[in-house]
Amino acid sequence: MLLELSHISHAYEKGREVLHDINLTIDKGEMIAIMGPSGSGKTTLLNILCGQLIPTAGTVALEDTSLSMLSENQRAKLRKDKLAYIYQDYHLLDSLTNKENIMLGLSESLTDRQVINRNIEALAVSLGIKETIDHYPSECSGGQKQRVAIARALAQKPGLLLADEPTGNLDSRQTRLVMEQLSQLNETGLTILIVTHDLYVASYASRLIYLQDGVLSTSPEIEEERLSLRERRLQAC
Ligand SMILES: Nc1ncnc2c1ncn2[C@@H]1O[C@H](COP(=O)(O)OP(=O)(O)OP(=O)(O)O)[C@@H](O)[C@H]1O
Ligand SMILES: [Mg+2]
Repeated sequence: MLLELSHISHAYEKGREVLHDINLTIDKGEMIAIMGPSGSGKTTLLNILCGQLIPTAGTVALEDTSLSMLSENQRAKLRKDKLAYIYQDYHLLDSLTNKENIMLGLSESLTDRQVINRNIEALAVSLGIKETIDHYPSECSGGQKQRVAIARALAQKPGLLLADEPTGNLDSRQTRLVMEQLSQLNETGLTILIVTHDLYVASYASRLIYLQDGVLSTSPEIEEERLSLRERRLQAC
């Protein structure tokens, strides 16, 4: 198993739990959609999963390493080595161009300029942001920034991808392009956890995790709609 959460609870403020007793196991190669109303704790869960946030109770194990046993530096290194994160609010550096932002995701061992440029160009073309590659994030639309953030995460060639509403600012065509790419990467072994409010996006997942008021729940109606959308999408291919 890749990730295991045992009895995770979290309160940002004393006495107000936003996650309550979450137990979850994620295997390598899964593609999971996390859905739930705004404020139900989806982003909090992702931040705990990657060791960026230490829960007030419970344990997280990533490939059998218990995150709470590690120092902050060790957790940061583990994150860098093992996973990529597409943030809900992008986390792009405004002082860098889009290209430089994407380069942050590339491995430091990659030093050949031509290879670096080829990698970035391929990502930019596949995500439709080639024209804005030398612009700064502040000069870009929300959808362009979102795709730069996706490119930076994919440049990392991670084994695990955490994506927090990665298509929230994309139109339906771009959403489809991004989801097809993620789906192909998933087929080659990438484990993906994707938070979304969009059933179309969730239809690419093999499993749905539904959060409601900080607890793992189920929504038979949403699951049924998601699966029928999946069926229709596959038939249309
Ligand atoms: N840093 C923080 N300090 C205090 N409370 C927080 C903090 N971050 C989130 N919360 C609260 O925790 C709850 C869960 O927030 P979270 O961001 O995890 O929700 P979400 O499911 O991702 O919502 P959305 O769909 O709107 O992104 C909310 O009530 C939110 O106000
Ligand atoms: Mg969120």
